[in-house]
Amino acid sequence: MNYENLLHREENRVIYITINRPDKLNALNTKTISELNHLLELYKFNDDIKAIVITGSGEKAFVAGADISEFADFTSEQGKMLSQSGHDLLFNYIENYPKPVIAAINGFALGGGFELALSCHIRLASDNAKMGFPEVTLGVIPGYGGTQRLSQLAGKGKAFELIMTAEMIKADEAYRLGLVNYVLPQSELMNKVNELLEKIKTKSPVAIAHAIIAINANDKDGINGYAVEVEEFGKCFEEDDFKEGTKAFLEKRKPVFKGKSAHV
Ligand code: COA
Repeated sequence: MNYENLLHREENRVIYITINRPDKLNALNTKTISELNHLLELYKFNDDIKAIVITGSGEKAFVAGADISEFADFTSEQGKMLSQSGHDLLFNYIENYPKPVIAAINGFALGGGFELALSCHIRLASDNAKMGFPEVTLGVIPGYGGTQRLSQLAGKGKAFELIMTAEMIKADEAYRLGLVNYVLPQSELMNKVNELLEKIKTKSPVAIAHAIIAINANDKDGINGYAVEVEEFGKCFEEDDFKEGTKAFLEKRKPVFKGKSAHV
């Protein structure tokens, strides 16, 4: 299927998605958000696909934010709906996606673009990348999970500073704050992504899906993450991947995971 604002390809059991509005620095309009949701939904339970990679087209921007031209004259109610539907269709959706989702941040990741990266499970950045929340400059706040996920990853103090000052940080500062796992020259970004994927692809997809649920339970009000871990740990014992993983270890061979789950 062709999308207006996305390019995508399947390679070695991974879906590579490029947000493709280079003349608008890949700004996220509602069409792009719904296209991303549609594409991700197609592969959510496809056992042949092991992971998703999201990047931006060109060498300048990952995503330069939500598309400002779309919400400039919104009412409060429309603003709330924009935020909520973004959470549902993309940002919470990605965080809870049952396969690893990796952000390859190849340039500006601002506002909604930074939030998109923060909702992914793993982030890598090119050394020209710049990240930040310019929202208060526009008289608004991050509305796609940024106030929460930046605090969770970098601590509340840094979240207050970055959101209040609207300062952009460079990739090496994002690395120092634990916001990205690796910083590389742009030409090497995808090689490093693929190196990580080669490791991930040999592991049990079912165990990875259970791990995503358990890790996401961390830092959530009203949810006991340890109790969720106990539950997810227990569920693994009913999965074929667990039987195969332990059997292969005892037989001194590499496991061949089916990746089909009874639970996720
Ligand atoms: N929404 C809509 N359009 C955007 C956009 C956004 N978030 N970010 C960039 N664009 C558009 C610009 O309007 C411009 O379009 P035009 O050529 O039709 O005028 C085009 O992308 C190129 O951007 P430009 O500002 O000319 O590039 P630059 O290199 O001078 O500056 C940025 C790059 C990222 C610093 C600048 O584009 C910017 O500040 N963008 C807005 C970031 C933002 O506030 N995001 C949070 C939104 S809540």
